Amino acid sequence: FLKRRKMWNRFPPGPTPLPFIGNVLQMDFKCLPLCFRQMSRRFGNVFSFQVGWTNVVVLNGFEVMKEMLIKRSEDIADRPPIPFYSKIGMDQGVVMMKYGHAWRDLRRFSISTLRNFGLGKKSLEERVIEEAAYLCSVFESKEGQPFDAHYIMQNATSNVIASMMFGDRFEYDDKKFQKLLYFLDENMKLGKGLLPQILNVAPWLRHVPGPHQKFVSCILNFLSFLEEIVEEHKTSWDPAHQRDYIDAFLEEMEKAKEDPGSTFKETTLLAVTCDLFGAGTETTATTLRWALLLVLLYPDIQRRVHEEIDRVIGRDRRPALDDQMNMPFTNAVIHEIQRYGDIFPLGLPHFTYRDTEIQGFFIPKGIMVFVNLSSVLKDETYWEKPHQFYPEHFLDDKGQFVKREAFMPFSAGRRVCLGEQLARMELFIFFTTLMQRFTFIIPENQPRPREDPIFTFIFSPHRYQICAKLR
Ligand code: HEM
Repeated sequence: FLKRRKMWNRFPPGPTPLPFIGNVLQMDFKCLPLCFRQMSRRFGNVFSFQVGWTNVVVLNGFEVMKEMLIKRSEDIADRPPIPFYSKIGMDQGVVMMKYGHAWRDLRRFSISTLRNFGLGKKSLEERVIEEAAYLCSVFESKEGQPFDAHYIMQNATSNVIASMMFGDRFEYDDKKFQKLLYFLDENMKLGKGLLPQILNVAPWLRHVPGPHQKFVSCILNFLSFLEEIVEEHKTSWDPAHQRDYIDAFLEEMEKAKEDPGSTFKETTLLAVTCDLFGAGTETTATTLRWALLLVLLYPDIQRRVHEEIDRVIGRDRRPALDDQMNMPFTNAVIHEIQRYGDIFPLGLPHFTYRDTEIQGFFIPKGIMVFVNLSSVLKDETYWEKPHQFYPEHFLDDKGQFVKREAFMPFSAGRRVCLGEQLARMELFIFFTTLMQRFTFIIPENQPRPREDPIFTFIFSPHRYQICAKLR
């Protein structure tokens, strides 16, 4: 007991908590990344705070993250319990599942199914190239007039996931599809702030009327939409013809039907479908929204990307992933969009799987840990111009592409983003295909769009209008 007490003396520092509520009044839940930046200036790169009686640790900066996420990855590979999510079964998917064999089975199955999907049929790359062509035709239909590409980007990225998960893509004006994307968007907006924290402390509140009902009904509507698709698959399922991820999962369920401890259950299927769809759509779409905004605001960078595309691919052939290695400037621009856009600043919450230490501080098993990815992507001791859009961060003095260790938008270690490869492919193919076809300009008589972000779990740009002129 004395030894443990001594270790607790080395718990990371933080502001003094009040009884019952902890530091809730001192925290700005509307923009946690900014709040964490200010706190790390005061308390250092490893600090803590309290929500009610619950301790939370925040890790900041490249050196701390390298030590924890890479060298001691397993120590923080767990996820915290989120009572509201557990009540609706969402802790059964790969995103919020506890670290252990079930998570490992599900993650391995998801990665290999998504990777191998379409063997002998359409490859993943072909699907993305095809979707990029649809995206271009929607841009072309605007005939150079101003428009907002917000939902169009979401249509494109969610169609890539939909075609792998459900075996089909949707037309961009499909009413059902638009409703689904609306729920996804609203979930993001409503999911920040104090409301979800309150639902977590008191999940029974979901049965009580109040402003939180909009958030609850968005999640439940999203789930019931996916439930319908799973039901349709179950009725038309033919083991001889595997159509998509859901079919592959149904096959695993069939194999394991005698095993009550199997990971492959219907509740897991619903949660993992929701996870992959949710995690794979908004993140990639938001990065593409940043991409268009930044080429709009930095015409010289846009011109240099156009030049490289014309030289390496030309105007007629469709861009493919192999082109990336011959296009150091475009590659650097895409990396810098991800670094500067900093779209998932705090990633997902971690939870200590065992007692651990970092930089002399002690963090016991069972503590929630935030990995502040933003503090790595904008680390002032690492990047030359951390707060500027500067593609040269990823170029050497001969103009060749260089990898940078502090480039961690997908996080790192055991819980690193499961869709990293897919996301990188989408970003390159969508961005390059759009840039090959169009010049993007700010509509006449409109103010310069804002460059600062809005925080809704992710950092997204303010809505803006764009003109896409055929090249
Ligand atoms: C987790 C970023 C696209 C599926 C994560 C995490 C980050 C991230 C930061 C949290 C890692 C951690 O807990 O430390 C991004 C970014 C994307 C992107 C920036 C696009 C630019 C995708 C796509 C998919 C996906 C396309 C779908 C196939 C997931 C899943 C997890 C995850 C399932 C949870 C992994 C686990 O807990 O084991 N992502 N992601 N992501 N991402 Fe992504």
